[in-house]
Amino acid sequence: MINVKVPLGVNVLDEIRVTGGKPLRGRVSVQGSKNAALPMMAASLLHRGVSVLRGCPKIADVYCMEEILEGLGAVTWWEGRDLYLDCAKADRTVISEENTGKMRSSVILLGAMLGRNGKGFMGYPGGCVIGKRPIDLHIYALKKLGASVTDRGNFISASCGKLTGAEISFAKSSVGATEQGILGAVLAEGETVLSHCACEPEIVWLCRYLRGMGAKITGDGSRNIRITGVGELTGGDMKVPADRIAAGTYLCAAAATRGKIIIENPPEGELDAFLEVYRKIGGQYEGKSGKLIADGSGVRFPVPFLETEEYPGFPTDLQSPLMAVLATIPGESHIRENIFEDRFKLAGELNKMGAFITASGRDAWIRGASSLSGCQVAAEELRGGAALILAALAARGNTSIKGASFIRRGYEHICEDFAALGGIIEDTGTTSYENIQIQEKNKAD
Ligand code: EPZ
Repeated sequence: MINVKVPLGVNVLDEIRVTGGKPLRGRVSVQGSKNAALPMMAASLLHRGVSVLRGCPKIADVYCMEEILEGLGAVTWWEGRDLYLDCAKADRTVISEENTGKMRSSVILLGAMLGRNGKGFMGYPGGCVIGKRPIDLHIYALKKLGASVTDRGNFISASCGKLTGAEISFAKSSVGATEQGILGAVLAEGETVLSHCACEPEIVWLCRYLRGMGAKITGDGSRNIRITGVGELTGGDMKVPADRIAAGTYLCAAAATRGKIIIENPPEGELDAFLEVYRKIGGQYEGKSGKLIADGSGVRFPVPFLETEEYPGFPTDLQSPLMAVLATIPGESHIRENIFEDRFKLAGELNKMGAFITASGRDAWIRGASSLSGCQVAAEELRGGAALILAALAARGNTSIKGASFIRRGYEHICEDFAALGGIIEDTGTTSYENIQIQEKNKAD
């Protein structure tokens, strides 16, 4: 076990170095989806035996979730790229604040613990720099299912005899709260109807995984989901789908460097809103025998106005990667971020590289530079960090990106992939279970 103790704030393994200016070219495969794998891992707690996630991404957030599930009594192991979770004895019901602080998405384990054992106690999920990230909708859903939930500000305790089916009408669309309601309802007594649900693909993948375990769910992917509770679930066994946000990030890399890439395993039909914008900036793409061929050589048009929306609108998680592309396009672009309150932290770092971006509230105006210049920049969160890599690959000269551990939370081999596409890039650290010790100080969202 590597236990690199470094002075707080300095992490010698935490830097990505890039020499930019070369168009990316070649073929690349996309990792398994972080945001599909995490709820699937939580759902595995609902079966008192072994489940398997095939092609699961080996990323820090998955390792964190593994650690949390092991803390509940699960046994997990990897066979190649497949993650096995034996939850036969996963009957502990307390998750430490230290652990929930690392993982925003740990909060959905509450619904799974209630479904399994009728109680759950956990520290508040990690905050992050992209916004407040409240959990009121999660608590609302669990209370509707009959749980008594006490929110002590830094600790949540929930208990119920057995959850009972209910009508749950979310005040606003929330991916995590929709997942929370689903995980609480699948073993509840009777019918549950969830309305104003999130429609993100990750909801559909979670429901597909749960149906494979014997859950009775219809309507996923629409605003209204109906669930009939069952007595127990069998083991899950499903391939983790390709990560649509990683795919979009790679397409942005081709656009930022004016290169041409082929994605071997594109997520079918999950990137339409993004690809529409890709075309608008001058990018070209075509689907051919199951692959996606993208040509960024013609990228040159700014975007007069774009706003992020719930699925199927333009995804908030690709807002930062797109901003990095727009920073390479002369002319004025305007982005409105409707999902999170504070997701423009990247702007200051791109301005250091020669862009001219002003952000106020939910709006950012980007005046791109015909060429960015490499320099020292720092990532503060996952998608903004990935966007800095894209800008560095496009920039003239060398860039050092601190805060690489944020990027390793969600991208399994982004540096290796860009190097294979001709990028000159080096990650001075590695993502491994041991490295989690190092990442503790970098709270995940
Ligand atoms: C999921 O986060 C994703 N994370 C996020 O990806 C993604 O950006 C987000 O959905 C939106 O698509 C995972 O799936 C692990 P939300 P989640 O609940 O579920 C507000 C990444 O980079 N809200 O859909 O936390 C919330 O503040 C990450 O991979 C409440 O008000 O997002 C936000 O404004 C970042 N009360 C809006 O809803 C609540 O109880 C949407 O958030 C919950 C959320």
